[in-house]
Amino acid sequence: MTPKTFRIKNFGCQMNVYDGERMSDLLGAEGMTAAAEDEEPDLVVLNTCHIREKAADKAYSDVGRLLREDGSKPLIALAGCVAQAEGAEAKRRSAMIDIVVGPQAYHRLPEMIVEAARGGRPVDTDMPAISKFDALPARRRASPSAFLTVQEGCDKFCTYCVVPYTRGAEVSRPWADIVTEARSLVDGGAREIVLLGQNVNAWNDGNRGLAELIRALAEIHGIERIRYTTSHPADMSDSLIAAHGEVAKLMPYLHLPVQSGSNRILKAMNRSHRTDTYLRLLEKVRAARPDIALSGDFIVGFPGESEADFEATLSIVDEVGYAAAYSFKYSPRPGTPAATMEDQIPREIMEERLARLHERINTHQLAFNAEKVGVDTQILIERKGRRDGQMIGRSPWLQSVHVESDARPGDFLDVTLVSAGANSMAGALRQKVAA
Ligand code: 5AD
Ligand code: SF4
Repeated sequence: MTPKTFRIKNFGCQMNVYDGERMSDLLGAEGMTAAAEDEEPDLVVLNTCHIREKAADKAYSDVGRLLREDGSKPLIALAGCVAQAEGAEAKRRSAMIDIVVGPQAYHRLPEMIVEAARGGRPVDTDMPAISKFDALPARRRASPSAFLTVQEGCDKFCTYCVVPYTRGAEVSRPWADIVTEARSLVDGGAREIVLLGQNVNAWNDGNRGLAELIRALAEIHGIERIRYTTSHPADMSDSLIAAHGEVAKLMPYLHLPVQSGSNRILKAMNRSHRTDTYLRLLEKVRAARPDIALSGDFIVGFPGESEADFEATLSIVDEVGYAAAYSFKYSPRPGTPAATMEDQIPREIMEERLARLHERINTHQLAFNAEKVGVDTQILIERKGRRDGQMIGRSPWLQSVHVESDARPGDFLDVTLVSAGANSMAGALRQKVAA
């Protein structure tokens, strides 16, 4: 039977969230509807992530949990990076999986569903030259802050990372397609566009780079805010840095992962930057936009990381004073060079270092937020808060701001930031004085 209702479960990064939205639009265009929360869907898509931990094992146990008490099950599609990495092996490992579809092939889902409904078990992990984007329906609905993938894949081959294998080489979407999609997101209700890519700042069309693209998007009526993530230090061009000082709609926030504060480890990670080049880059960014909120990613316990290497990571966190940062225990990924390096770090040491790093990052997050207490700013309302009458929005610096208001998602509110925690702020509505 062809499925009528579906549910998409996203794991991992924002690019998966974007892919999940596009799959949802695609299935909607086929006449299927998203299942209500309390409803058993006919089709479940598990949009998986392969970046850390026992990703594949977790995906298979998620599949197993879809078995119902009466022994029946929905049609199951394994999508995302685990699907890409496992391919046909997925069908052998779990008889419950009907469809295996990689991140570059999900535009084929409708025909794969038809095949699976007839009893077939299609697998597609191709990375076709023809872009999936050309085969997807136009965007219709959009949240106030909407994701727009402009670039996919990675050529950097950091020694710990699976992304170059699961998402393939760096590919930039064409300028005109991005502008068209941005316009339809605005028509669908978006006020903020978040440009996405594994190496988003590597975006280019041969002549123009991300800075030019941002400047063009800023001209579109209805787009009030622009962000982009995730960036690589090697692709942080002077023109992009300049845009931070010149384009008012470009928000003062930059996610620029360094991964470690130790040059020895950076080299072993095959990162192209060293701590001094990274810090110099941030100085230039701060010169262009002094109030910029900086964020980053860190890996603790990379093979060979000594206590001194780890302390260098704590030092760079202090030196930069991140407004936010994400830290992870190193996880050996099959097929990556680091997985077979000597001197893998014991779990207890990794956990102890991660806890120390978390604490240090928290201190800086809290300090960044505390400095903003008393500041008048604008927030973009995204959703309801937990308490009655409470709404949650984002400040320009991407802080989550709670406010008592009857505003709706998509509204901009003038607030004063009145108190700070490590992970959120409280805002008070500012009275508008008549001119
Ligand atoms: N182990 C731990 N963290 C990883 N990341 C990428 N690969 C691994 C891995 N094998 C982290 C990096 C990257 C973020 C998206 O995930 O910090 O920036
Ligand atoms: Fe992975 Fe490094 Fe590419 Fe980022 S830059 S996706 S960490 S290989």
